Amino acid sequence: MGADETNLVAPHGGALVDLTVSPDRADELEREAAGFKRLVLNARQLCDIEQLVTGGFSPLTGFMGQPDYESVLNEMRLADGTLWSMPISLDVSPDFASDLTEDSRIALFHPEGVLLAVLTVGSVWQPNLEEEASKVFGTTNDEHPGVKTLLSDTGSTYVGGEIEAVRPAQHHTYPRLRHTPEELRREFMSRGWDKVVAFQTRNPMHRAHVELTRRASAEQDANLLIHPVVGLTKPGDVEYHTRVRCYKAVIGSYPANTAALSLLQLAMRMGGPREAVWHAIVRKNYGCSHLIVGRDHAGPGSASDGTPFYGPYEAQELVEEHAEEIGVGIVSFQMVVYDATTDRYGTHEELGTDADIKNLSGTQLRNLLNDGSDIPSWFSYPEVVSELRKSYPPKSRRGFTVLVTSSDAATADVVLDILSEKLLEDGARPVTVLDSETAPSLLPLVAREVAKNGGAVIASLRSEDSENVGTVRDSLRGAGEFVQLDIAAES
Ligand code: ADX
Repeated sequence: MGADETNLVAPHGGALVDLTVSPDRADELEREAAGFKRLVLNARQLCDIEQLVTGGFSPLTGFMGQPDYESVLNEMRLADGTLWSMPISLDVSPDFASDLTEDSRIALFHPEGVLLAVLTVGSVWQPNLEEEASKVFGTTNDEHPGVKTLLSDTGSTYVGGEIEAVRPAQHHTYPRLRHTPEELRREFMSRGWDKVVAFQTRNPMHRAHVELTRRASAEQDANLLIHPVVGLTKPGDVEYHTRVRCYKAVIGSYPANTAALSLLQLAMRMGGPREAVWHAIVRKNYGCSHLIVGRDHAGPGSASDGTPFYGPYEAQELVEEHAEEIGVGIVSFQMVVYDATTDRYGTHEELGTDADIKNLSGTQLRNLLNDGSDIPSWFSYPEVVSELRKSYPPKSRRGFTVLVTSSDAATADVVLDILSEKLLEDGARPVTVLDSETAPSLLPLVAREVAKNGGAVIASLRSEDSENVGTVRDSLRGAGEFVQLDIAAES
């Protein structure tokens, strides 16, 4: 494809969608919005609307109505036959939806109070969320993060309708690394890049990933777009600010003017095969000619019984089947690993049976960081490791919470005093004491913030308050260690 306006064609053959209205229409909607129902969007909906408005989700022009939704579930196509693999629905509570009728209008707000867009209701219905899980994700097991969101964190009524965008999404970080599809296409044109391979990722990039991306662009004689997702990824992933620092560290290792970095505000569903097809459509919209799809693309791993949710190459197979229709070349990879004998990366097949294969899983890497142990130089780059160490210091330097539970508040507070004295004697961390006088509702919030910043929290709760124990534990996920000391009453 030449570097001209044909680059603005979306996979369905039409133009890229841009739902932003004229300034006059925006003013009008702004005035009328006071009379519309008001909905404050959650993190997932904010990502979805940003892609809808800017054309990342072309040809969609709003949240899906019931006919498109059902057709996507059953056929992986919109009602008009266009390939589309992921439902893009606006979920609300039945209470919110109770007085909506066709043509009602909903003002969609950013949590910061800004009116982003107005939706004109086309259809309102009660989806069968279990059926959606089973058709989109191939399972109803809620250990799958996409299923969990659907079954526990999704309103039970869906609203479909066209969108008029009043204002673009606000981002306070990385303005130079964020692009709309049109901006990115123009950037490629101005650099004279005819062919661009996109690398989708939700993880920091180590040597294997740089190897993968270098090979892909060499094979296709194309430039490279590192296109990491910074919207929503799998719970427990390395948070995106750390990842962005890692990407910035590796981008310099590619030859000059061959690779670019752009952040993608997408809410991943971890839907494996269907998600890979969706990723390919989205990348086509962003002006890429190819997408790398390796092992277990957008896969959530395995269920607790050890069964993987998807086969390692299932995503590759589905996206390859539809690549031509999407108009994106798929650069497929088998698992790439390191061979210590020849000091190179390759697939098992390439490296042969004499190879001394080394691989480090995410969990193994996390353990090395926890212990403050060396990360092998064959695995990553010093700059990337140093960024990871800043965000994941060894356990000995991380904050923690000790929660003392007892049926008797006075007993718990005595234990608190002793513990805090010992920790002050140790002197390794600032100590925060949250005794029985502290409002239980404040406790999880304060504990989380203090532990996240490397402090020791000593807190007490009445054992009858077991619900709060769970809340504290949940809120500390990713923010430090948690120990519970239950003081049994004397019999
Ligand atoms: S994903 O959820 O975005 O797919 P990740 O960031 O780990 O997760 O992977 C990004 C892309 O790189 C995916 O296409 C994945 O299949 C591929 N990939 C990552 N590591 C390897 C590897 N060692 N070998 C082959 N492909 C890989």
